[in-house]
Amino acid sequence: MTDLSEASWPMAQPRSDNSVRAATVADLAALLELERAGFPVLEQWSEQSWRSELTEPALQVLIIGTDPLLGAIALRIAGDDVELDRIVVHPRARRSGIARTLINNALDGHRAAEKMILEVWTGNAAAIALYRSFGFTELINRRDYYGPGRDAVIMSLPIQDHRRVQDHRAGEVRA
Ligand SMILES: CC(C)(COP(=O)(O)OP(=O)(O)OC[C@H]1O[C@@H](n2cnc3c(N)ncnc32)[C@H](O)[C@@H]1OP(=O)(O)O)[C@@H](O)C(=O)NCCC(=O)NCCS
Repeated sequence: MTDLSEASWPMAQPRSDNSVRAATVADLAALLELERAGFPVLEQWSEQSWRSELTEPALQVLIIGTDPLLGAIALRIAGDDVELDRIVVHPRARRSGIARTLINNALDGHRAAEKMILEVWTGNAAAIALYRSFGFTELINRRDYYGPGRDAVIMSLPIQDHRRVQDHRAGEVRA
C-alpha cells in the first residue's frame, strides 16, 4: 500500500509559480471552477464527487496553479495499483506541459505501486495521446461504457518501468 500522507509526498520539479501540491478541502471551490471550465456540462463531476476525492483516505488530488487553478489530477489507491480517476487542465493553459507535470508527480509519489491504471473514452484523442506519451498501453475495450457508441478503453503503465517524461514549456502557461 502506498503512503498517502502529505509529509511523504516528494514535490518534484519545484517551481516558484506553478509548483504541484496536494489539494485540501480548502481548494474545493477552485476545483469546481476548474471542472466547469475544463469539461462539458454533461461530463462534469458534482461538488460531492470532488469533496469525496478530497476527504476519503484512499483518494488524493494534486493541483497546480492558483486563482485560477491550472490543473488537477485525482488518484485512487487500489491495493498495489494507483488509479488515475481524473485529470483536467484549464483550457487557457493546455499544451504547456501541465498534465505531463501532474502525471510525472503522481508517478513519482507512488514509486512503490505496481501500476497506474485508467479508463478513458476512446474518442478523447488528447487524453489518449497524453497517456501514450508516457507509455500507457491499452488493455481492454468496454463497448458503450459511456453510452451508445461511446466506448471506454482501460490503459495501464507499470510504474517501476516509468522514467520521468520531460516536463516541458511549463513556464509558458498563459492563464
Ligand atoms: C487531456 C488534457 C488533460 C491534456 O492536458 P495538457 O496540459 O494540455 O497536456 P500537456 O500539455 O501536458 O501535453 C502532453 C502531451 O500529451 C499529448 N497531447 C495533449 N493534448 C493533446 C491534443 N489536444 N492533441 C494531441 N496530443 C495532445 C501530446 O503528446 C503532448 O505533448 P506535446 O505537447 O509535446 O505534443 C487536457 O486536454 C484536458 O484537460 N482535457 C479535458 C479533460 C479531459 O478530457 N481529461 C481526461 C479524461 S478524465
